[in-house]
Amino acid sequence: MGTDLQSVLLTKEEIDAKLVELAAEIDTEYAGKDLLIVGVLKGAVMVMADLARALSTPVTMDWMAVSSYGAGTQSSGVVRILKDLDTDIKGKHVLIVEDIIDSGLTLSWLLTNLGSREPASLEVCTLLRKPDAAKVAIDVKWVGFDIPNEFVVGYGLDYAEKYRNLPFVGTLAPHVYGG
Ligand code: PRP
Ligand code: MN
Ligand code: MG
Repeated sequence: MGTDLQSVLLTKEEIDAKLVELAAEIDTEYAGKDLLIVGVLKGAVMVMADLARALSTPVTMDWMAVSSYGAGTQSSGVVRILKDLDTDIKGKHVLIVEDIIDSGLTLSWLLTNLGSREPASLEVCTLLRKPDAAKVAIDVKWVGFDIPNEFVVGYGLDYAEKYRNLPFVGTLAPHVYGG
């Protein structure tokens, strides 16, 4: 796996199985409703692609690009919109899809922002969450895995824009980020 990585935290098989589980619950929740899934670029691309294909419910897909990390490993709490939604979500059932909730600052800001646009409903599905890193409490309906407060990469998650294309989630060796 290369010397930049310390260990594999979640294999591709574990991720796939979890997304199938989550998709079944989401299918049940939104049966008979029009669902818009909103992926948060760039980290959520892999989760969006695999979760969407595991769903039976027909969905529309849109994307927001926000960034709070920049090139570092610490959330700055300053959220920038790099790309807004293409569509008006007023009256729509919206599910935000994230790769990870770390401090929670990105999602907290997004929930306020999207919530003010008067969707019919607004929920969150995240593959990963770090309970020990939370700076704000967020009500998240679907969580794949709660993980330790270590820096993780792969399956969409980056360090300085690298490692996103790893098919698994791994921990980064401290020497890579100077830890
Ligand atoms: C990462 C991750 C989440 C957010 C979580 O995105 O993909 O969106 O940070 O951190 P938080 O809970 O502390 O706010 P990042 O800002 O690195 O942008 P990226 O998705 O383009 O990598
Ligand atoms: Mn992100
Ligand atoms: Mg990032």
